[in-house]
Amino acid sequence: MLGNTGEGEPGDGAGPGKVVFVRHALPGERVRAQVTSSTARFARADAIEVLDASPDRVEPPCRYAHPGGCGGCDLQHASPAAQRAIKAQVISEQLRRIAGIDRDVEVAALPEPAGAPGAGLGWRTRVGFAVRPDGTAGLRRHRSREVVAVDDCLIAHPLVREADVPGSGWPGARGVEVTVSPGSGERSVLVTGRRGAGQQRAGQQRAGQQRAGQQGPRPLTQHAAGRAWRVSPGVFWQGHPAAADVLTGAVLAALRPEPGDVALDLYCGAGLFAGPLATAVGGGGKVTAIESQAAAVRDARKNLAGFPQVRVHRGDAAEVLGRHGLGGAGLAVLDPPRAGATAGLIELLAGPASGLRRIAYVSCDPATLARDIALFAGLGWRLADLRGFDAFPMTHHVECLATLTPAS
Ligand SMILES: C[S@@+](CC[C@H](N)C(=O)[O-])C[C@H]1O[C@@H](n2cnc3c(N)ncnc32)[C@H](O)[C@@H]1O
Repeated sequence: MLGNTGEGEPGDGAGPGKVVFVRHALPGERVRAQVTSSTARFARADAIEVLDASPDRVEPPCRYAHPGGCGGCDLQHASPAAQRAIKAQVISEQLRRIAGIDRDVEVAALPEPAGAPGAGLGWRTRVGFAVRPDGTAGLRRHRSREVVAVDDCLIAHPLVREADVPGSGWPGARGVEVTVSPGSGERSVLVTGRRGAGQQRAGQQRAGQQRAGQQGPRPLTQHAAGRAWRVSPGVFWQGHPAAADVLTGAVLAALRPEPGDVALDLYCGAGLFAGPLATAVGGGGKVTAIESQAAAVRDARKNLAGFPQVRVHRGDAAEVLGRHGLGGAGLAVLDPPRAGATAGLIELLAGPASGLRRIAYVSCDPATLARDIALFAGLGWRLADLRGFDAFPMTHHVECLATLTPAS
């Protein structure tokens, strides 16, 4: 079978002609693979023996990254450059298949976090550990509820690893989520109990201290775009320490805001893009930010309190825009969850009544991004630029930024 997307052969359990997604293989390799699941349309398999190795293959740095091991990383067996090339190819393929657009894409490496081992390790600032009934914390097997015992996670940020969650006992817990702020050195540890509500305990600590007591959970202070950001537990924040800075710079470069401009920040989270946009448009401009999660709205309002030109609305992005209109906005950034934007929202942003001249669409799902780019294209918008960022090294995940402009 050819990795990492191959075709089934008689006798391999996948069936001839059926597409097989092969984990732990690389493009161009010949491997022996074991089918792990199969549907009418495709099958999944693990490469259990490499017959002809790709020159991009490396020894996985983590000893849990193997068939049947931890499900967190998909690409530890590829060099960092090859990982980025694979992700770039995935973005291009989705764009071609779903939106009918041919475009070569580059996926850029992000700066390695200070104090981390480098080469794609030590970046992850939030790690959710699962706990076995015996109180041992580990990580989930690929596409499974099963918990793999680990003694470390190499992609976790050093502040997460210092907490040594796998080395502690967690009797009665279902999960332990560790979130850290590399800028402030803060760490929060949220423990979810087995018996549902009322079983949560949380602690917050400066890195290097022992697990704190029962008080909390309190917001962490994150740093990006030259500012400090309050981010409450459960509120979205970019997982790679460099991602917030890199994406903010890329969004500003895509939108080119000028003093006096009116801009939208849709799905604004804690206000990451609205802040730098507010600085760029100045007191004579306006930024409208929209976010549905109450805690994120509270954080955004606190984070952006120094900007009278910013208004943060709570609610569904399409519903709020439908009610208030675009307010004369010329620029918009949207950064929806993996499911992407809705057709209704895209119609509002790109339809004939819109006065927008540039849209920056940030996405961590190339497939829904491609679907939405096709919707924008149907409304007369063109894909001016598409960039990828390796914000999740060692995994198949990738962050994208599409710049859209009216076609004429
Ligand atoms: C990927 S995060 C982006 C946050 C922010 N742009 C950042 O980079 O920190 C997506 C955000 O959209 C919010 N969200 C989800 N569905 C929404 C909706 N229908 N309308 C508005 N916001 C929504 C989530 O709560 C989350 O904060």
